Amino acid sequence: MVEKIEALKKEVNDYKADSAAQVEEFRLKYLSKKGILSSLMEEFRTVPSEQKRELGQKLNELKNYVTERYNFLKDNATSKNTLDISSIDLTRSATNFPIGSRHPISIVKNDIIRIFSDMGFTVAEGPEIEDDWHVFSSLNFPPDHPARDMQDTFFISRNPIDVLLRTHTSSVQTRTMEKNQPPIRIVCPGRVYRNEAISARAHCFFHQIEGLYIDKNVSFADLRQVLLNFAQQMFGSETKIRLRPSYFPFTEPSAEMDISCDICGGKGCPFCKETGWVEILGCGMVDPNVLKACGIDPEIYSGYAFGLGIERITNLKYKVKDLRMFSENDVRFLEEFESAR
Ligand code: PHE
Repeated sequence: MVEKIEALKKEVNDYKADSAAQVEEFRLKYLSKKGILSSLMEEFRTVPSEQKRELGQKLNELKNYVTERYNFLKDNATSKNTLDISSIDLTRSATNFPIGSRHPISIVKNDIIRIFSDMGFTVAEGPEIEDDWHVFSSLNFPPDHPARDMQDTFFISRNPIDVLLRTHTSSVQTRTMEKNQPPIRIVCPGRVYRNEAISARAHCFFHQIEGLYIDKNVSFADLRQVLLNFAQQMFGSETKIRLRPSYFPFTEPSAEMDISCDICGGKGCPFCKETGWVEILGCGMVDPNVLKACGIDPEIYSGYAFGLGIERITNLKYKVKDLRMFSENDVRFLEEFESAR
């Protein structure tokens, strides 16, 4: 019987099985109830008891060995089957994972930044939580200006100094001027906050991009040309601009800029309230008091600044009627915009 066991071991070791059917044959031949191992067990019962110990051990080893071999053959045959390369089309394009789209505010912000960076502006950013100095005082706001009222501005604390959510990104201009001497040519994109009741036309936060250029001999004509170039790149080469006198504490003279209505082409429609013009930004020559407050000599340098609301430009480009759509994150709305891919 010992020789039989040794011979079987060798036989099992040499057994080859390439398919599931051959593996099954192996199982039937060695491991099934009518298989060789079972009949060996039968035979084992009849051996004299003094041989039982040694033979029993050998039989057990054989059984383990056959089972291991069976598992090995089974694994090999199935992995061979699933890796049958001929059934895989390696030229098929990969599954297209949906990765969402860019937010319309980001699309328009990036467009605006691209236009101004082509004209030599670099991007500057600053904190959303600000102090009174950077948002108001350095920008020539008088102490009793209504923007300093709780009604218009979100204050975080008022003692010992006023800490607040910035109401415009002009604070980034102040921070840049404090740290750098001219020439300065920056655009400052960012989120701003104002204490307004939320409706289709107003929100308590929105996004702005402000521009600032300070150098020797900067004039209002430079400002006008840069803004015209921007308007035509953003809304088409036929776009006209007009500047109306206005007031901001930090610029003198100040103006508001309108563009010819994109929707009716200037003929007059409900969107432009039949005027043919829509307002898109505020601008002006930086007030000498602001330059002084930021450590720049107004006798040597002059400059201009402008500020525009990104939501406003996005509305014009994409005709979004309700401002709240921008922050509700309704996937059906967001999916209408260009893929982020
Ligand atoms: N900071 C102004 C606002 O928030 C916009 C502006 C910027 C106007 C720069 C003039 C110059 O309304």
